[in-house]
Amino acid sequence: MTQHHTPGYQALVCTHFGSWRDLEIRRLERPVLQSGQVRIRVRHAGVGFAVGLFVSGKYQRKPPLPFTPGTEASGEIIECSPDVTHLQPGQRVVAALDWGAFAQETVIMADTVYPVPDALDLRLAAALPITYGTAWGALIGRARLQAGETLLVHGASGALGMAAVQIGRLAGARVIATASTEAKRDAALANGAHHVLPAEATTLAAAVKQLTGHTGIDVVFDPVGGDLFDASLRCLAIEARILIIGFAAGRIPETPSNLLLLKNASLIGYNYGQYIGWGLVDERRRYAGVLQPMLARMLTAFAIKQMPPPLTQHFDFSDWIQALDTTLSRRAIGKVVLDI
Ligand SMILES: NC(=O)c1ccc[n+]([C@@H]2O[C@H](COP(=O)([O-])OP(=O)(O)OC[C@H]3O[C@@H](n4cnc5c(N)ncnc54)[C@H](OP(=O)(O)O)[C@@H]3O)[C@@H](O)[C@H]2O)c1
Repeated sequence: MTQHHTPGYQALVCTHFGSWRDLEIRRLERPVLQSGQVRIRVRHAGVGFAVGLFVSGKYQRKPPLPFTPGTEASGEIIECSPDVTHLQPGQRVVAALDWGAFAQETVIMADTVYPVPDALDLRLAAALPITYGTAWGALIGRARLQAGETLLVHGASGALGMAAVQIGRLAGARVIATASTEAKRDAALANGAHHVLPAEATTLAAAVKQLTGHTGIDVVFDPVGGDLFDASLRCLAIEARILIIGFAAGRIPETPSNLLLLKNASLIGYNYGQYIGWGLVDERRRYAGVLQPMLARMLTAFAIKQMPPPLTQHFDFSDWIQALDTTLSRRAIGKVVLDI
């Protein structure tokens, strides 16, 4: 008897903006590759906090409906368009996507596809391209974190926070981490933080003073915002840099500029999306020359065990509801990854 294979692949699909619980797994047809694109067999996909915003249509960019969410994937290249010559079918890669990672296959511009060293497990690599790219680019590229400086990381058991703690350690900084529960603080300590503090705005300044004396914090990495951001402004060292990364707490804070003046401090906004084609103008090609070596350096640091493996929590593709629920209900410790 002849075996008939259904063409296409399975993907989690958003048909209308609304609750992420309305997503459904469907079979999609393979699109034809366009110039500059590669097709990847997805093995693992990172789940980010922004997926809820994406699916509800509240993110700064709205994909055309229907679409498949997911912005980080690891896997092997199936096919390259003829003008992509630096990548080959069969190659193990990790990618930062516009959307489309929660699927068995995805198509993506080659600019944001990064070769994975042999010694690095694809299960771990899926946690890296945007999460660690953001933390690395912000701390090293923009804040110019130096060995011996003191780094304060908020949301330290979350995906970005975990990355910031590890990169801070690698850079030789003294890392103070905040998190809301004891289990999360234990995870931050196990991940390499030198000190942990409760994510409590009312006690932060006094606790930091106890740890640093009158010196204060040189670099703040803040993916949380709200009251913790306000409190951080009262913990600063002279010439401090405050990285504004996200507002997981829900409130976008305002800054009394006198506090910056008094400490010769700088506020630095950092939007990784700008470098991977998510800006008003698509500039992924312009920045590929900066990001490709940065990601290569970072992936190598994991491959040669200069950094401990990222903490990941894995879910089967069929358990996507539990995976998204864990991420969006503040329960995740480390990076949630879907095994496709
Ligand atoms: N700037 C960029 O380029 C960039 C890139 C990626 C992501 N982001 C943004 O950065 C933020 C963090 O992303 P992530 O992937 O690290 O998320 P995550 O893994 O969910 O971690 C966020 C952390 O924020 C803290 N938090 C405080 N209030 C919260 C609330 N009401 N709900 C949920 N979490 C809360 C939680 O720590 P505690 O429980 O310890 O307080 C949690 O661990 C998000 O807003 C995301 O959109 C920005």
